[in-house]
Amino acid sequence: MATTNSKTDTSESSSSQRRRVAVITGGGSGVGLEATRQLIQHGWHVIIGVRSVNAALTALAEIPTHAEIPAYTVESLDLSDADSVKTFATTVAKHIPDGLLDALICNAAVVGDDREKEPTSTPKGYEKTFATNHLGHFILTGSLMPLLEKAHGRVVMVSAKGHRFSSTVYEQNDLQLRTTP
Ligand SMILES: NC(=O)c1ccc[n+]([C@@H]2O[C@H](COP(=O)([O-])OP(=O)(O)OC[C@H]3O[C@@H](n4cnc5c(N)ncnc54)[C@H](OP(=O)(O)O)[C@@H]3O)[C@@H](O)[C@H]2O)c1
Repeated sequence: MATTNSKTDTSESSSSQRRRVAVITGGGSGVGLEATRQLIQHGWHVIIGVRSVNAALTALAEIPTHAEIPAYTVESLDLSDADSVKTFATTVAKHIPDGLLDALICNAAVVGDDREKEPTSTPKGYEKTFATNHLGHFILTGSLMPLLEKAHGRVVMVSAKGHRFSSTVYEQNDLQLRTTP
C-alpha cells in the first residue's frame, strides 16, 4: 500500500498528478517546433515565446492535440528587447497558477547577416545577435528562476557550432562585436 509523507516536497509529490509545464523560446519553427511537438506528445503544456505569434500558431496547428485540453500557449516575445522579455516572464507566471515551471528551453536564436560590414544594434545599443541569443535568455532565465526552483525544474540552453565559421575576431572587452582591424 502506498503511503505519503507530509514532509515530502510538494512539488515532487504532485508532479506525477499534474501536467508538466515548459517554456520554450522560438517554439514556432525549426528545432523549437520539434521540441514543442515532442513535449506535447508526452503530455506537457508548452508556453511558447516568439515575435511572430500568428506564424507560430499556423505551424503549431499541425501538431495533433486533444481538443479539450489546451496543449500550448503562444505569447509575444522579442528577446532582443529587455522590456519585452520582462513582460513575457510576467505573462508566463500568470499562465502558471501553481507557480511550478518544470523546464525552460532557451532555443530561439538569430545570426546577424553580414555582420562584418555593418553590425546591427538594438535601440539600447547592444549588438543584435548577442542581445537576442544571450542577454535576452539571461534575463528570461533569471526572471523565471523562482518558478523553476519551486518545481525543481531544469534550464536547457540550445546552442550551435556556427560561430566557429565566423571570420570576425571578437574582443572580450568589445561587446558591440566590432570587427578588429
Ligand atoms: N537548424 C540547425 O541546423 C541547428 C543546428 C545546431 C543548433 N541549432 C540551434 O537550434 C536553435 C534553433 O535554431 P533553428 O534553426 O530551429 O532556428 P529557426 O528555425 O530560425 O527558428 C528560430 C526561432 O527563434 C525565434 N526568434 C528569433 N528571434 C527572436 C527574438 N528576437 N525573440 C523571440 N524569438 C525569436 C523565431 O521566431 P520569430 O521569428 O517569430 O521570433 C523562430 O521561432 C538555435 O539555438 C540554433 O543555434 C540549430
